Amino acid sequence: MARIVIQNLGKSFESADFSKPLLTLIHDQGIDWMHACGGKGRCTTCKAVILEGAGNLTDYTLAEERYTKQGLLRPGDRLACQVKVQGDIVIEVPESGKFPHMMYRS
Ligand code: FES
Repeated sequence: MARIVIQNLGKSFESADFSKPLLTLIHDQGIDWMHACGGKGRCTTCKAVILEGAGNLTDYTLAEERYTKQGLLRPGDRLACQVKVQGDIVIEVPESGKFPHMMYRS
């Protein structure tokens, strides 16, 4: 069981499904999360900032490595549609991923 905390949304949930990408786990909770390319690793709009538990995530995918080299992902950023969760994490929504209809703490 892994606990996923989205700090600047003030939301958290648990999941025992380590086979689905983080984006799917978030959407399964009914939480809106940006995903312009539909979760295909072709954009960076699903970016999540990892605050704690980076070691509880699967390795970087080729898409994440490519965007890191291009400077579109900073250290600590992961693509929610690519990464899978293997243990507890604390994340936040970056400025670029915030929706106007949702309330964020920062
Ligand atoms: S939704 Fe486009 S890269 Fe994740």
